[in-house]
Amino acid sequence: MRPLIVIGNWKMNGNLASNQDWIKTVARGMESGMPSGRQFAVCPPFPYLSQCATLIKEHSLAFLSLGAQDTSAHEVGAYTGEVSSVMLKEMACKYVIVGHSERRQMHHEADEIIAAKALQVLDAGMTPVICVGETADEKNSGRAVEVVRGQVAKQLMVLQDRLADCLIAYEPVWAIGTGKVASAQVAQDMHRAIRLQLAEFDEDVASHVGILYGGSIKSDNAVELFAMPDIDGGLVGGASLDPQEFLAICQA
Ligand code: PGA
Repeated sequence: MRPLIVIGNWKMNGNLASNQDWIKTVARGMESGMPSGRQFAVCPPFPYLSQCATLIKEHSLAFLSLGAQDTSAHEVGAYTGEVSSVMLKEMACKYVIVGHSERRQMHHEADEIIAAKALQVLDAGMTPVICVGETADEKNSGRAVEVVRGQVAKQLMVLQDRLADCLIAYEPVWAIGTGKVASAQVAQDMHRAIRLQLAEFDEDVASHVGILYGGSIKSDNAVELFAMPDIDGGLVGGASLDPQEFLAICQA
C-alpha cells in the first residue's frame, strides 16, 4: 500500500513571524492526531529551513516533515548561489522538489539537469519529488500524454530502478496557480498513463512510486482527487500558505 502524501510548497513566500504562526497553527491542528497511513511535509524557502526545522522539533510535530524546493545538480564546489543536497539533508529535509515547472520555464532547466538533481537528492538520503506536466498549448494540441511520457522517459533513462525511491508529481502547467484544477478523472488518467509507462520498465518500480497531483489543489477538490486509485497525494502551492487550508487538505 502506498501512503498518501501531502506536501506544501510555499514557493517564495513567508517570513520569520508568519512561519512561526503557520507551524503553531498546524501543530495545534495535528495535536489530536491525523488519519493513519499519511505523510505530510512543508517546503519553505532555503533561508527558513533551519527556523522551520527548529519549530517542528519544539512542537514535537511528528506528523510533519521538512522539504526543500530545489537543489544543485552538483555535490560541492564553486557554484555561487547554489545549495547542495548534503546541506539540505543536514537541515533535516526529507523531500526535495526538482524540476518544478517554474524552474523549467524561468530557469530553463532541462530533463537532464533535473535527473542529475534527483540523483544528488537520492545520494544524500532524501526523496526527490520530480515534477512533470504539460503546458496549456501542449494540452490543447492533444500532446499531453506524449509530453509527460517524454519527461518521465528522460528520468527513467538516468535513474532506472532508483526511481522506486522517488515521488513523481504530475503538475499540469495550466493548472498551477490558476484555479483551474484538473478534474479528478483527467488527473487519474494521466497518473495511470505514468504508472503504465513505469510498469513497461519494471512492475515493481511502478507499484512503489507515489504519484502526487499538483495544480490548484484546495480542500474542496482534494477529497475527490485523493480518492482516485493512482493519485497518491498532492503537491500544494497557494493553498498551503494558509495553515487551516493546508490542514483541511491533509485531512481530506
Ligand atoms: P498551486 O501550485 O497549488 O498554487 O496551483 C502548485 C505547485 O506549483 O506546486
